[in-house]
Amino acid sequence: METDADQMYITVNGVSFAYGSAPILKDVNLSLDKSEVLGIIGPNGSGKTTLIKCINRILTPQQGEIAIDGEDALKMSLPQISKKISYVPQNAVRDVSSPMVYEVVMMGRRPHTSWKSTEQDEEIVWKAMVDMGVEDLATKPFDRLSSGQTQRVLLARAIAQEAEIFLLDEPTSNLDIRYQLEVMGLIRRLVREKGVGVCAIVHDIDLAMKYCDKLVMLDEGRITYAGTAEEVITVENIKETYGVDIAIDHNYGRPHVVVL
Ligand SMILES: Nc1ncnc2c1ncn2[C@@H]1O[C@H](COP(=O)(O)OP(=O)(O)OP(=O)(O)O)[C@@H](O)[C@H]1O
Ligand SMILES: [Mg+2]
Repeated sequence: METDADQMYITVNGVSFAYGSAPILKDVNLSLDKSEVLGIIGPNGSGKTTLIKCINRILTPQQGEIAIDGEDALKMSLPQISKKISYVPQNAVRDVSSPMVYEVVMMGRRPHTSWKSTEQDEEIVWKAMVDMGVEDLATKPFDRLSSGQTQRVLLARAIAQEAEIFLLDEPTSNLDIRYQLEVMGLIRRLVREKGVGVCAIVHDIDLAMKYCDKLVMLDEGRITYAGTAEEVITVENIKETYGVDIAIDHNYGRPHVVVL
């Protein structure tokens, strides 16, 4: 899994970021390659969203370097970045003002198409909607969906974008348990079949343990633990970071987090 940092698709090196004079990220290092799922966990307000916004160039770090596919991300244009990175924001419900679900998913094709969408774009969009189970919503107004439907439509848009890296800010937060598992399963399938790399902020530490190849724990803007799920999610680390007692249950084929 870990290879030479130079060969990783995304490398974040010594990144620090402040909103005004309030330091948020402090000397953050991480790397992500294609075909792997990196989970970011950590308490509310620890800087997780800020970190993926820095990777995506929505925010510009005051210190450190970010490389995407060997290029200095700070010198790349936003259209260049959106060919390589799909981003699904947290609380995205009102960031799109497009009338129909189908058109919202079609927006994922924008980095690739000129004014008019082609038959191929339509095919890609339709397939992405089927993948996320939102094809029945195609002609519904986007702003009248439930939060879970909204999340699935935005994931379909990200799939239609055909980027190599997905940055997902709490992709399962509004989903019922069935769609939580389906979405995480779909993410694993994209990784396996298309070789994409995924960096996802995941609050549910059991989901993180089940679906992520590697994890980083962010606490007050610093990465406190990094490694495999079993290295990062330990009884001691969770107690220290969240002040919560858990146990790790090994009875059902894989380690499970049990909240005590
Ligand atoms: N635009 C902003 N201006 C000033 N401070 C901000 C801004 N956005 C976030 N912050 C602050 O930065 C810190 C980190 O916020 P961030 O959204 O990155 O946390 P998070 O780890 O994603 O939290 P959550 O789990 O609640 O989503 C918080 O203290 C937050 O109040
Ligand atoms: Mg957040």
